[in-house]
Amino acid sequence: MRTSDDTRTNVGLDVLTDPDWVVPPVPQDVPEGGMAWLRARVARFSSGEAHVRRRALAAGLLGGGEDAADALRDAARVRTEGLLDGAGKGAETGGVDLMARVARVVPAEVLAGFLGLPVTAETAELVGHVARAYHAHGGTVAAADRALARLVSVCGGTWDEATAARIGLLVQAYDATAGLIGNAAFRMLTGDPPDRSARPVDAAVTAGVTDWLDRTLSADPPVRGTLRAPADGGEPVRISLVTDEVELHGESLGDVSRGGESRGDVSPDDAALAGGALPFGAGPHACPGRAHARALAAGVLEALLVRGCRLVRPDLAYEPSANLRVPVKLEVTCA
Ligand code: HEM
Repeated sequence: MRTSDDTRTNVGLDVLTDPDWVVPPVPQDVPEGGMAWLRARVARFSSGEAHVRRRALAAGLLGGGEDAADALRDAARVRTEGLLDGAGKGAETGGVDLMARVARVVPAEVLAGFLGLPVTAETAELVGHVARAYHAHGGTVAAADRALARLVSVCGGTWDEATAARIGLLVQAYDATAGLIGNAAFRMLTGDPPDRSARPVDAAVTAGVTDWLDRTLSADPPVRGTLRAPADGGEPVRISLVTDEVELHGESLGDVSRGGESRGDVSPDDAALAGGALPFGAGPHACPGRAHARALAAGVLEALLVRGCRLVRPDLAYEPSANLRVPVKLEVTCA
């Protein structure tokens, strides 16, 4: 529950499951045609009944079950292998930039196809334009507004909540999944990867990739924080989802995962997997795309292994962001 002495320093993960705290609201009375419309219609920035309704739309599109994950994983692996082949071995040019050529392309394209949208050469770029302006409330970004209009037309041209849900999924996935791929690929390729050249992909490669994803989600998650605001008004505060930052507040992240339903829809498995951190959030806004994100990233990592990719440089810089950890560039060469 909210208390009178809540401050930026003593607010912990409990607020993610506390009805007295909400995602910072966005203006609802906005015209069609721009990014403010998208923010006003997706689950991510909604609360209460509107959130329940919009989240159900998103979850319905994502579907469930092993089959969806297997299909995404296979599609991501095949598409990544194709892109790596198309980019050459990378040796002459100093390397293929995995972030630009793969991590920021494959999840958007594969997810768009999964959602029933036609995939073209511009799909990933359009999603990228929208994603870059998604959290930048206030200002107008003409390129993002134009890209959003194109995506709405690709979705059938109707500016309604169902269209917003589809585009919202692509946009939510864009940075976070790129970050998961980049951080996991960096760990895997600087670590001790499983057998590199197994083909077809065998159980050892699959298990090895799962292990690298688990380690990344535990130690180096791409989404580091989120915002919440008191439901009765007041300034938003940043909530850290990363263990070391949260320990500064004396919080036990493990506690948030206990109690199942009453503490939100994070499962004890997720928390254990992540070593206590909450890489996919918790509570009513917890990520509904966890299995999809993992499957997409796994397919990409598998392709890197079967193509015998190696890192060109073992140093890493991250995109400037308070809440995301996404490598700027990751150069690899392939066998
Ligand atoms: C296929 C990939 C993904 C999809 C489709 C997806 C979708 C979504 C959606 C729709 C939401 C908003 C849910 C709501 O407001 O009710 C969300 C929230 C979230 N997602 Fe994902 N996501 C994906 C990948 C990821 C990845 C890779 C991570 C990090 C490892 C991540 C972390 C989160 C977190 C922490 C939230 C909660 C944000 C908050 O409470 O403010 N997502 N995701």
